[in-house]
Amino acid sequence: MYRSHTCGELRLKDVGKKVVLAGWVHHIRSFGNFIFIDLRDHYGTTQLVFLPEINEVLFEEAKKLGREFVIQVEGKVRERINKNPHLPTGDIEVEVISLRVLSAAQTPPFTIEIDTDGNEELRLRYRYLDLRRKPLHDAMVFRHEVALEIRNYLSNQGFIEIETPFLIRSTPEGARDFVVPSRLHPGHFYSLPQSPQQYKQILMIAGFDKYFQLVRCFRDEDLRADRQPEFTQIDCEMAFVDQEIVMQTFEQMIKHLFKRILNIDLEDFPRIPYEIAMRKYGTDKPDLRFDMQLIEITDVAKGQQFLIFDQADHIIGLVLQGQAQLPRKKIDQLNDWTKRPQVGGKGFVWIKWNEDGSFKCSVSSFSEEFIRTILEKISAKPGDIAFLFAGSYPDVFKVAGSLRLHLAQEFDLIPEKSYKGIWITDFPLLEWDEEEQRFVAMHHPFTSPRQEDEHLLEIDPARVKANSYDMVINGVEVGGGSIRIHDAALQERMFKALGLSKKDIEEQFGFFLEAFQYGVPPHGGIAFGFDRIISLMLNTPSIRDVIAFPKNNAGKELMSNAPSPISERQLKELHIAISNQKT
Ligand code: AMO
Repeated sequence: MYRSHTCGELRLKDVGKKVVLAGWVHHIRSFGNFIFIDLRDHYGTTQLVFLPEINEVLFEEAKKLGREFVIQVEGKVRERINKNPHLPTGDIEVEVISLRVLSAAQTPPFTIEIDTDGNEELRLRYRYLDLRRKPLHDAMVFRHEVALEIRNYLSNQGFIEIETPFLIRSTPEGARDFVVPSRLHPGHFYSLPQSPQQYKQILMIAGFDKYFQLVRCFRDEDLRADRQPEFTQIDCEMAFVDQEIVMQTFEQMIKHLFKRILNIDLEDFPRIPYEIAMRKYGTDKPDLRFDMQLIEITDVAKGQQFLIFDQADHIIGLVLQGQAQLPRKKIDQLNDWTKRPQVGGKGFVWIKWNEDGSFKCSVSSFSEEFIRTILEKISAKPGDIAFLFAGSYPDVFKVAGSLRLHLAQEFDLIPEKSYKGIWITDFPLLEWDEEEQRFVAMHHPFTSPRQEDEHLLEIDPARVKANSYDMVINGVEVGGGSIRIHDAALQERMFKALGLSKKDIEEQFGFFLEAFQYGVPPHGGIAFGFDRIISLMLNTPSIRDVIAFPKNNAGKELMSNAPSPISERQLKELHIAISNQKT
């Protein structure tokens, strides 16, 4: 028997009991006539005390222990004199009477504390040590609990979980595929799914009514704080549904999760069409935890012999309330911030409306009357500062939207621990890809156009709106889905609008279109980024903090050092020739 109790279990009621504990040496505090050791396991920490008067040999042995040794102790539970109210076991300690070292440990490269001294690279390399730290350890338990709640909830709603394959054929749409060479079929490759999109649609054709899967997806794209090359989706699909049913079903699911897991009642999610979101917030994932909106002032801002405004398609105002006293240096810093390449701005005009009623503006030629007109149009008040941007759609909106978010962070406008969910709807079906010189699907090629726009598919593709929807919480896109095309002829028209030839369509999607010949129910669905939901709930800066073994920003898994070269023999078996020449 390795233990009679876990390290998180003992309480005052256990005082006097003889117990056996096992765990890692977390902390050692050594004094002349006693040694305290915090013993840690998955469940918690218990203080051990070694006293020379009880066993001198044992006391000497305890002195030799180091951090992260795995030990087993036998001892007696006693009440602590200095209780620790922050620890569930803080009322007791265990007076040790025997000690066994189960595994010695080298000194870890960083401390196993809540706020460790290890940098991220080191922590990723020694991920098993990082996972011992409470925040990451707890995140894994939390993640498990949310997954369980999702499975129970969806199952109770009649969804069944069906696994779909990981080794599939490559369909070049969306991000880049990760590919796997086939040993048995020289020159042929599987690819790892970017999502089970086609399979879940085929399951609907196969007569299943409500499908879900907590499923790993793989995308070879640039990494960011909220992107991993492999990540987990809560993937869902339903037959015989319209957009309204899908949105309601999954808004309920998310509300249920927040209530059950965090005891938070989310308000109903407003629905904002894509174009309105772009014009009001400069993004299709607006953070609505704070109010600030972009206001178009094009109609009143022209005709002042100010070329930048006169030549612009759009002029936009953004008001920062109560900051008219902002020093010039700070304004310049904000202006520089908008000009960074990541933001792409060309600079802004600012107007201060001082508390005493006077104005100050970065453009000295603006008349007081003109300034007044603008301030009125953007509903500014004395004490506010306004930023004005000029340019074309959507770029200028995006720049102003980025500053909106930046100001909210800089001036603490985002209430802590608040969650605000919204739906973005009416996305364009297609968007023009400059690099590829063709239209690409904004969501994916199986998304249906709005019925009233179908006739535009060949004549004016850019104007076609889709039956698609994204769920956004606190400015994070947590999910996205659509009502699918269920008609073979329309699906073919869509493929053609994407510039695919008959041959391409046959080669890449032949099996899919064939299935469409055998009776397809109207269907639709959604997929959520599971890692993103967990990260939001735990308020972590990156989804890496809620994934057991994530990749770093360069796509590497630093613990095992993947990706790695493979042997000549493996390469040969896989029919892959690699040139030895270094590029
Ligand atoms: P989409 O591509 O929008 O839709 O993905 C759905 C959700 O998955 C999350 N997500 C990611 N999370 C972490 N790392 C990534 N690299 C990453 N990429 C996406 C996001 C996103 O909202 N098959 C469709 C869904 C459907 O139409 O039903 C799809 O995959 O939270």
